[in-house]
Amino acid sequence: MSNAAVQNTTVTDDLAAFKAELVAIAAATNKTLDDLLAPVSGPEGRVTDAMRYAALDGGKRLRPFLAVASADLFGVPRARSLRAAAAVEMIHCYSLVHDDLPAMDDDDLRRGRPTVHKKYDEATAILAGDALLTEAFAVLADPATHPDGAVRAKLVAELARASGAAGMVGGQMIDLMAANLSLDDNGLKRLQNLKTGCIIAVACRMGAVLGESPSGVIDTLGSYGRDMGLAFQIADDVLDVESTAAETGKATGKDAAAGKATFVSRLGLEGAKNLAQVLTNQACNHLVPFGNKADLLRQAALFAIQRRN
Ligand code: IPE
Ligand code: IPE
Ligand code: MG
Ligand code: MG
Ligand code: MG
Repeated sequence: MSNAAVQNTTVTDDLAAFKAELVAIAAATNKTLDDLLAPVSGPEGRVTDAMRYAALDGGKRLRPFLAVASADLFGVPRARSLRAAAAVEMIHCYSLVHDDLPAMDDDDLRRGRPTVHKKYDEATAILAGDALLTEAFAVLADPATHPDGAVRAKLVAELARASGAAGMVGGQMIDLMAANLSLDDNGLKRLQNLKTGCIIAVACRMGAVLGESPSGVIDTLGSYGRDMGLAFQIADDVLDVESTAAETGKATGKDAAAGKATFVSRLGLEGAKNLAQVLTNQACNHLVPFGNKADLLRQAALFAIQRRN
């Protein structure tokens, strides 16, 4: 892309700094998740094993990156932001486990491995998803996440709203019904914002909440996340057409086969890519008040649409 398209930023197409930080934050998030999701003995250990299978090993860890990089803007200690990062990744992993179930997208491959219901069974996958969802809130409610109970309550409320019927779950509901809804462009945008944008946006918002930022600052980072989240989902839909299971670690070509409503089906590949680029520029424009401190977040927005998996 042309750098001129992004106002007042030093963003470049060289994503090396971002990629290095993504790897570092992913490793720290994995360690945090490994500690938080300890294996359990006894028959109920089957569900903790399935939770660990779903949440450890694999994934780009973009949402943890966004939570930590946003918190870094405010000097939040990593010991705190990594817990918020782990919580949002637990919600994301739960959403993937349920998204892959036969009753939803019916997928056998995720992150290059059998999906949880294939590796275990459907009932275990449902329970592992439920337990990841609830554990996320236990992590946020723990004083180790922030000493101030009001901050913890705000984190819990933010993540709950973004995950539930007014957020990701609502978007997944519309996604399942979309073939019969004849959505217009705004309806499609709303679907994608809800199912994907809300969790990406809340990762950014939680960083600002941990930094005890005023609501205007929280909203600004949330607007960045919402725009990049929509671009990220459009890129996911493009990859479903243009990429392979070997690259993405999940089946491709499924959206058209299932008659899913996406911006690719609506605008065609080029139209969808153009829209993703416009949204990326819009996302970066929200970062202007943060100056060069937000360069990694700018690069993350570019990564969201340039990635190959
Ligand atoms: C996949 O998300 C589901 C969407 C919301 C598009 P990611 O592409 O972030 O999946 P992982 O975490 O890297 O596996
Ligand atoms: C999933 O969207 C969004 C979620 C909330 C999990 P997709 O169904 O397109 O995600 P993939 O392609 O299976 O990863
Ligand atoms: Mg789906
Ligand atoms: Mg799916
Ligand atoms: Mg997809």
